Amino acid sequence: MIREKRLRVALICGGNSAEREVSLAGAREIEKALDPAKYSVVRFDPASDLETLIKHSHEIDVAFVLLHGPYGEDGTIQGMLELLNIPYQGSGVLGSAMAMNKHMAKTQYMQAGIPTPDWVMIKKDQNFSPSEISKRLGLPMMVKPCIQGSSVGMSIVRRERDLRKAIEQALEFDHRIIVEQFIQGRELTGGVLGLDPPRALPLVEVIPGEGHEFFDYEAKYTPGATRELCPAPVEEPVTRKAQELALAAHEALRLTAYSRTDMILDESGSLWVIETNTIPGMTPTSLFPQAAKAAGIEFPRLLEMLLEMAVKAHRQCL
Ligand SMILES: Nc1ncnc2c1ncn2[C@@H]1O[C@H](COP(=O)(O)OP(=O)(O)O)[C@@H](O)[C@H]1O
Ligand SMILES: [Mg+2]
Repeated sequence: MIREKRLRVALICGGNSAEREVSLAGAREIEKALDPAKYSVVRFDPASDLETLIKHSHEIDVAFVLLHGPYGEDGTIQGMLELLNIPYQGSGVLGSAMAMNKHMAKTQYMQAGIPTPDWVMIKKDQNFSPSEISKRLGLPMMVKPCIQGSSVGMSIVRRERDLRKAIEQALEFDHRIIVEQFIQGRELTGGVLGLDPPRALPLVEVIPGEGHEFFDYEAKYTPGATRELCPAPVEEPVTRKAQELALAAHEALRLTAYSRTDMILDESGSLWVIETNTIPGMTPTSLFPQAAKAAGIEFPRLLEMLLEMAVKAHRQCL
């Protein structure tokens, strides 16, 4: 019998989160980009294939987890892969869980001295006073589920009397939400790639088109709805500072191999860290692959690097 020389990759995609379609679109691109002479790729969808994955775990060399949002980007799948002794790309259980929860991530940023907009966290059924919150944070405010992605369940509140409804809406997606100070400015996102040491990639500026109050779901996934400029046309000191913050966020959240940190450059020139993504979108035109390309790393090579780092970092408890 000839032993399979190709690396056997489990592409874990789909899932049950609000970002299922985004995941499946990325998975198709990964299948297209990985060299079939080097990799044999088998898909597993956590919505239907968890038992099959467990049964076939000994036939898998490495996993590529392309799931966004809860039960994918939050450490749960990563924990299962640890138990099954399967290496996987990107961050481990702790980092994934911390980064996915916006309240926890912001608490970590604060502790590391990383500027992040002021916020309050509210639990389901908790009493709160809209006027106290708006006095503290000012208007407008952003309301977001603690655990979610792709701007799902989020809204801008411009009038105090709209706060309750926005909170109720966000609470449909998670039992904890945050209300955050709104930062007016330009949106930058900073990729980080590598193990020892991780390095900052060129920044991307994201400019949602007219009709989008912020980088919402439609602006993210409707072709042409958003302009993306890479490298971001900002001055060199701003680039350097934003890259430092992306690296600091990666470190503060104990992330591994890659991440993408969203920031806002306010009108006075200060940078604010909004959140960090541990499994950024992975089509060739997604933000992280664009940034890698600007650093000379084409999409297929980026995927290979992530798989190589997965094998290298396995069981190092990073
Ligand atoms: N505090 C804020 N001030 C201004 N805009 C914000 C703020 N927080 C989020 N946004 C806008 O909402 C978008 C999505 O928010 P983000 O926290 O990155 O959530 P997600 O995990 O859904 O990407 C951002 O890309 C930005 O356009
Ligand atoms: Mg974001």
